[in-house]
Amino acid sequence: MSATIPLIDIYVMGKQYMVPETLTIIEAMEYAGYHFKRGCGCRAGFCGACATVYRMAGDFELKVGLACQTKVEPGMYLTQIPFFPGRKANFDLEEIKPSVADFAQLYPEVFRCLGCSSCTKVCPQDIDVMQCIASIQQGDFTRAADISFDCVMCGLCVSRCPVHIVQYNAALTARRLYSRHIAPPSSQLKRRNEELKAGDFEAGIQELMKADKERLQELYNSRDIE
Ligand code: FES
Repeated sequence: MSATIPLIDIYVMGKQYMVPETLTIIEAMEYAGYHFKRGCGCRAGFCGACATVYRMAGDFELKVGLACQTKVEPGMYLTQIPFFPGRKANFDLEEIKPSVADFAQLYPEVFRCLGCSSCTKVCPQDIDVMQCIASIQQGDFTRAADISFDCVMCGLCVSRCPVHIVQYNAALTARRLYSRHIAPPSSQLKRRNEELKAGDFEAGIQELMKADKERLQELYNSRDIE
């Protein structure tokens, strides 16, 4: 006989639900009847679609987490923020250089950072967001790219910044500048491009295009995983 999992109370957008205590926030919301069209993607902590803010009953502190990675707790008041409207600069990667001057044209607000660390404190990925911004200010795009490598673009940093820096887009730009202008060329990528141009994968692609759903599932489940 299987043990009964205790139910706990959570509050989604102010409405109370009783849910099993073992669930993540996403699972608990689905248990409560929510269907996700936005606010959920990979379910594994990678896509950043499930940013959530919550408070525990009686506590003043606003907490954050990825809904797919955060377990429910009794008395949790929560809502999701699947998108945060941060500004995104347009640029041609071939025309800009990894320089402070070029970066200041794209994201001048980066240089208004107060050093308050709100972005670092709020990051559900434990990224030192403020250090990433400081590295950009110093023109160290290699360090900025390295620090922000695990960013899932959830946008919670932007939601707390008092001077309206769009940290996740600034960091993405730093990673692109690093990849295009600083990182050494990848020999594997060059080889794979040559294989693609030579049509080495054409037969496999055609096989996939003709395969039915069952065959695709079979191929997917038996794929090589590194
Ligand atoms: S659903 Fe992708 S990070 Fe949570």
